[in-house]
Amino acid sequence: MRLERVRLADFRNYAALDFTPEAGLNVFVGPNAQGKSNLLEALAMLATGKSFRAHRESELIRSGTERAEIGGEARIAVGAIRLRCTIGRTPAGTRKSFEVNGGSVGFARFLGRTRVVTFVPADLQLVSGGPALRRTFLNGALAQLSPTYYRDLALYQKVIAQKSALLRGAIAPDRDLLLAYNDELVRPASALVAARRAFVDEVAAATAEIYGRWRGTRERLGVTYAPNPEGDVAEALAGAVESEVRRRSTLIGPHRDDLRLLVDGTPLAAFGSQGQQRTAVLALKVAEYDVMRSRTGDAPILLLDDVLSELDAERAGGFLGAVGGFEQAFLTTTELPRDVGAAATWSILAATVSRC
Ligand SMILES: Nc1ncnc2c1ncn2[C@@H]1O[C@H](COP(=O)(O)OP(=O)(O)O)[C@@H](O)[C@H]1O
Ligand SMILES: [Mg+2]
Repeated sequence: MRLERVRLADFRNYAALDFTPEAGLNVFVGPNAQGKSNLLEALAMLATGKSFRAHRESELIRSGTERAEIGGEARIAVGAIRLRCTIGRTPAGTRKSFEVNGGSVGFARFLGRTRVVTFVPADLQLVSGGPALRRTFLNGALAQLSPTYYRDLALYQKVIAQKSALLRGAIAPDRDLLLAYNDELVRPASALVAARRAFVDEVAAATAEIYGRWRGTRERLGVTYAPNPEGDVAEALAGAVESEVRRRSTLIGPHRDDLRLLVDGTPLAAFGSQGQQRTAVLALKVAEYDVMRSRTGDAPILLLDDVLSELDAERAGGFLGAVGGFEQAFLTTTELPRDVGAAATWSILAATVSRC
């Protein structure tokens, strides 16, 4: 799939932009703080409806204005599609609304119409950092692949937040209410675990293959899903009631899942070299891309924010080569890279995009 046209109004530092990207690799080059990452963020939002970096969505609306708009025209396997995401400031906070082909739709029907794989510097901690990063990795791909996954996730997170508030409350929690929350959690929790397990199985195979190719076949990378609980969700929740009440926190459920990464049986996060960890991260990202492409029959759009500069030339080249066959990719950089095979290079200065 690819974006054929992108229009921004009052998004971040862009007052107005009408941009026609090329198929293939588009490189955004320019000094810092000009709007390169902002543009990439807008492209990602057309797929995910969410920013990959804003802490508060009000940041997305250009200072001094009330409403930001991202419009896109994309070519996907089944034809052309028009997308629009609007973020408005209201007294009660920000409000987002979504359109597909001119008709207003809810978030779940917008999400995943186009799909992206994003790779930002924070992802370089995917192996060495905490489990929340790895859950975000799973959710990011799965929510784009399946509206059902997204709905289950949203429901699960809502009930977990309620249950957590109950457990943390000043008074002893109402047992009946606690058990009612547990009942509500079982179905979405089991669905999330099943979807993650199937996805991780596919990603693991691809990751191990890519890792082996890059590091030499002597090293075997194992990626396994570490669900919480390992067994039946309803049973585990029932068995944990007393300890959850005592600890005043939710101990059981896929909000505590993780991925286990091992090289030849040794945990990579604790014992791997930085080189091994980085290679594993790149392999995971390429695998995410491959699985999304093979599951949908349509290559996702690849968004790379400032990451190639963090890598040595060999790894950067290996990464781009490995995702070879992408239909469209966008890459930001402060210095024009040596030959990366760009279809177009765009200079971004003060929120103006022009062909180099
Ligand atoms: N809501 C906003 N309104 C106006 N300017 C913004 C807003 N959010 C971010 N900016 C500006 O965008 C610039 C950063 O853009 P960014 O795309 O991150 O830069 P880079 O080109 O280095 O990737 C900063 O100058 C920042 O002040
Ligand atoms: Mg940037």
